[in-house]
Amino acid sequence: MNYQWYPGHMTKAMRMMQENIKLIDLLIELVDARVPLSSRNPDIDGLGKNKARIVLLNKADLADPVYNGQWMDYFKGQGAYVLEINAKTGAGIKAINGLVQEACREKLERDRKRGIVNRPVRAMVVGIPNVGKSTFINSFAGRACTRTGNKPGVTKGKQWIRLNKSLELLDTPGILWPKFEDREVGMRLAFIGSMNDEVIIREELACDLLGCLKELYPEAVPERFGVDWQETFAETLEEIARCRGCYNKGENPDLKKAADILLDDFRSGRLGRMTLERP
Ligand code: G4P
Repeated sequence: MNYQWYPGHMTKAMRMMQENIKLIDLLIELVDARVPLSSRNPDIDGLGKNKARIVLLNKADLADPVYNGQWMDYFKGQGAYVLEINAKTGAGIKAINGLVQEACREKLERDRKRGIVNRPVRAMVVGIPNVGKSTFINSFAGRACTRTGNKPGVTKGKQWIRLNKSLELLDTPGILWPKFEDREVGMRLAFIGSMNDEVIIREELACDLLGCLKELYPEAVPERFGVDWQETFAETLEEIARCRGCYNKGENPDLKKAADILLDDFRSGRLGRMTLERP
């Protein structure tokens, strides 16, 4: 199967990113902790050079805790400021304020030398679709925040969320285009649901996922569905359909239904906390 993102989307996202990046001091990049490399767009390194950088391993609740730790070390080793978070519950988010101060220390120092004091750091959240940018902005900003700009008589243009006296966040996240360096990357993005499911043949995707799970978490499928690994992944999917009572009209196992169940179970963490890429 061919995993795709359209060039038109990419051009638009690139243009927006170039416009917005000029306005900010700090980039807060979200990646999916289950696939921290495939859910990253390395072009951000070029776009965001000279900006302070924070990497957030989001959806850490769905990823394998052992590898969350290893990925934290990996990104730290690359000179990034890193945290693992759950944007949905807000777990881990409190520590960000301290991290912002650390990541922006040089800039704050430079400002002080120029006599600029009390100018808040301006930050933008970036990431590929579905990594949790909007969820993160909502939990981080909470309800107590003030939105600035675009009020009658106030500055026209971008909306900033004032989080505290030292930090403002652009209220629209920067969308990065996924980078399909190879088929594996596209496939992993499809597993986590970061690709339009309409262009995907779900039975094929499910078989690819079974391949990945057999290699990395061989116990998970037998434990969850009570089936043994079969000769082929299509046969294993058939077994899952039988176990779950999914049949077509002709009494054949409904592979599409079984694929939906498998993918939903994986995406929601019901198959267990899993990390599909290893540092
Ligand atoms: P985006 O702006 O980057 O495109 O992503 P968005 O915030 O819309 O989040 C995409 C999905 O990921 C949402 O689920 C959201 O709830 C979920 N999500 C975000 N952060 C986390 C996290 O840390 N842990 C978990 N488990 N899920 C997270 P959805 O199914 O689209 O919506 P909903 O059913 O949760 O409302």
